[in-house]
Amino acid sequence: MNRDPSPDLHYLSGFGNEFTSEALPGALPVGQNSPQKTPYGLYAELLSGTAFTMARHELRRTWMYRIRPSAAHPRFERLTRQPLNEAGGTITPNRLRWNPQPIPQAPTDFIEGWLPMAANGPANTPGGVSIYIYSANRSMERVFFNADGELLLVPEQGRLRLATELGVMQVGPLEIAVIPRGMKFRVELLDGHARGYLAENHGAPLRLPDLGPIGSNGLANPRDFETPVAAYEHTTGPVQLVQKFLGEHWACELQHSPLDVVAWHGSNVPYKYDLRRFNTLGTVSFDHPDPSIFTVLTSPTSVHGLANMDFVIFPPRWMVAENTFRPPWFHRNLMNEFMGLIDGAYDAKAEGFVPGGASLHSVMSAHGPDAETCDRAIAAELAPHKIENTMAFMFETSQVLRPSQYAMSCPQLQADYDSCWATLPSTFNPNRR
Ligand SMILES: [Fe+2]
Repeated sequence: MNRDPSPDLHYLSGFGNEFTSEALPGALPVGQNSPQKTPYGLYAELLSGTAFTMARHELRRTWMYRIRPSAAHPRFERLTRQPLNEAGGTITPNRLRWNPQPIPQAPTDFIEGWLPMAANGPANTPGGVSIYIYSANRSMERVFFNADGELLLVPEQGRLRLATELGVMQVGPLEIAVIPRGMKFRVELLDGHARGYLAENHGAPLRLPDLGPIGSNGLANPRDFETPVAAYEHTTGPVQLVQKFLGEHWACELQHSPLDVVAWHGSNVPYKYDLRRFNTLGTVSFDHPDPSIFTVLTSPTSVHGLANMDFVIFPPRWMVAENTFRPPWFHRNLMNEFMGLIDGAYDAKAEGFVPGGASLHSVMSAHGPDAETCDRAIAAELAPHKIENTMAFMFETSQVLRPSQYAMSCPQLQADYDSCWATLPSTFNPNRR
């Protein structure tokens, strides 16, 4: 199938690749990064996403050619003193589930609308992740950057226009966007309100997983990731610039738009991906493969195969396994699973887990299909059937997630989640083999 890139995006055909983009012809210096005099009188500025001396294929950095350097800003003043979502949350081994968070009544932009859910590492260490649900009802009129980590946005309701330093992307439900650590951006709401999930990744930048015996095709294909092309704002007048720094918000006032990059080249770029393009694989004989076959992006650790965070989806797919218990099996895992639902229903739960909701299953917590789903799966006629209208996802982490004080006290926390497994009967009969 041939698809043309949308006019304001170009394809990210790999991770760690170099891209170039200029909004004015000849704005990119040729043959060097920081010449004495740049075209159009722009300032050259480097944004690093990784340490300088990482292996070449791990390096992320971008050169920007901008109207004013980012350094031209006054002192940041603290907006909020309470760290938003650090790793010192509640210790609980219990399985937790939340109903959807409400859309706010009071005017709330994307920055104000982060509801802290769980975290497993403070932002001052190079690992761990903090998880939020965002819920907003007005466009940002200010600009934001996150010094604490790379941001993975998973919209569940409402399309977003992301005006970033490197250009503009539009992203909606069933798509994701990733914004590099420190990159400035503004979130505008295209549908009046928006809600979704956020993973703030303090560890290695997200990338495509290795495919092993799957080969060179399948899962999320590199060519389906899109990055914006250069677009700049040349405006004067007061603009608030907010940064998140060790969980707190700090702000200063500029007299110009900081989204003033006229040209850029590099590998440290925002990007988007349509989850409907995921090439889902599964069994064609019996039993399920491990859910690692559903990994879209991974943030690795220095231990091979152990992720700081995997972003995993459960898309529509055919179920054809013979003589197989078809829902996800009962399990107790090493990894910690924060789940959300973007669309429809999830095949392991009959009720209680709806779009906008969430669940947390920590290391070694026992879980799996609820009693109703289990009963149906054992009784089912095993003809091929397609699970449609569904898109669940998981932020799966190797460090234990601690739910935030907000997550443990909000009215959306379900009091009776354990009960969905309580009626699983013993069907054991030593006389029936
Ligand atoms: Fe699980």
